[in-house]
Amino acid sequence: MALLKVSSLRKYFAVKKGLMIKPLLVRAVDGVDFSLDEDRIFALVGESGCGKSTVARLVLRLIPPTSGEVLFQGMNIFGFNGGALKAFRKSVQIIFQDPFASLNPRKSIMDTISEPLKIHRIVEKNRLKDKVVELLNKVGLGSDILYRYPHELSGGQRQRVCIARTLVVSPKVIVADEPLSALDVSIQAQILNLLQELKREYKISFLFISHDLRVVHYFSDTIGVMYLGKIVEYAKTEDLFGEPFHPYTGVLLSSAPVIPTSDTTHYAPRITHYASRLIQGEVPSPIDIPPGCPFHPRCPRRFEPCDKIVPELKEVDERFVSCHLY
Ligand SMILES: Nc1ncnc2c1ncn2[C@@H]1O[C@H](COP(=O)(O)OP(=O)(O)OP(=O)(O)O)[C@@H](O)[C@H]1O
Ligand code: SF4
Ligand SMILES: [Mg+2]
Repeated sequence: MALLKVSSLRKYFAVKKGLMIKPLLVRAVDGVDFSLDEDRIFALVGESGCGKSTVARLVLRLIPPTSGEVLFQGMNIFGFNGGALKAFRKSVQIIFQDPFASLNPRKSIMDTISEPLKIHRIVEKNRLKDKVVELLNKVGLGSDILYRYPHELSGGQRQRVCIARTLVVSPKVIVADEPLSALDVSIQAQILNLLQELKREYKISFLFISHDLRVVHYFSDTIGVMYLGKIVEYAKTEDLFGEPFHPYTGVLLSSAPVIPTSDTTHYAPRITHYASRLIQGEVPSPIDIPPGCPFHPRCPRRFEPCDKIVPELKEVDERFVSCHLY
């Protein structure tokens, strides 16, 4: 059984503009399906505004869906309350993009990490400090920062504190929403390595959100490429990098700088037919999604039916892709 199963998930926001009487609908998430197995990493990738964080907020049960369901260990998370909801909140944790914004500036690191330990009564009072130091050590920090405050730490140290805080409750799933994008490039690899080590040690599954395909290449098992609220390609990471099927995946890959290593050179030639056509134009608004294939105004390979007929997500060679070319 999948740890997390997302089916036909939709979230529409009603927004009012100016003097309009009827609100407009923002189709932020428009029919998303994926599953996350134990000890696995599923990456959700796409440009800004395609609905990645909205998927995260739905999966964390921070907002209700317009329709569709999210099953955690086979149970509908939107039906949880009482003890089941509390257990779910412990099992599924979040790491945000901006570690500074997600830490209370008035709380020391000791207070920040001991708070959930106290709330969930995880250790005796006299063992609190030892447990906080143990968690800090797990994320590569020492006891010297115990009584420091967030503003006294570097960005990388702050993100490590946020990660330590999620480990307090022994989560089964961590939703990581762009956990690297606020950090210096030199620090990004260190945090990615830390997440990988923690996954190995604790068998945590990740829903890892990123706009950067380079980041998820070595980190994820499967990838869902999102465009305007929908997953347009869903494949094993090695297959997707081996040969992108959807033209949008192709342009995303060719616009992401490839660091040539022995692992990356094998897919480089296959994406050359997109390489000269770096992604054109802006993503259309999710209030006004283009007819037919939503990607057609920007697609380098569009043809006759693309602006009229919506392509369905079809299974092709052990992956899913929504494009009339398949
Ligand atoms: N509460 C809300 N009310 C109205 N529109 C919203 C709301 N939350 C998100 N949206 C809209 O839904 C769309 C998807 O937003 P979302 O934050 O999920 O995108 P994203 O893929 O995470 O983008 P980014 O990479 O910039 O973080 C955007 O057009 C956004 O403006
Ligand atoms: S359906 Fe047409 S426009 Fe859409 S991605 Fe495929 S080729 Fe491009
Ligand atoms: Mg986001």
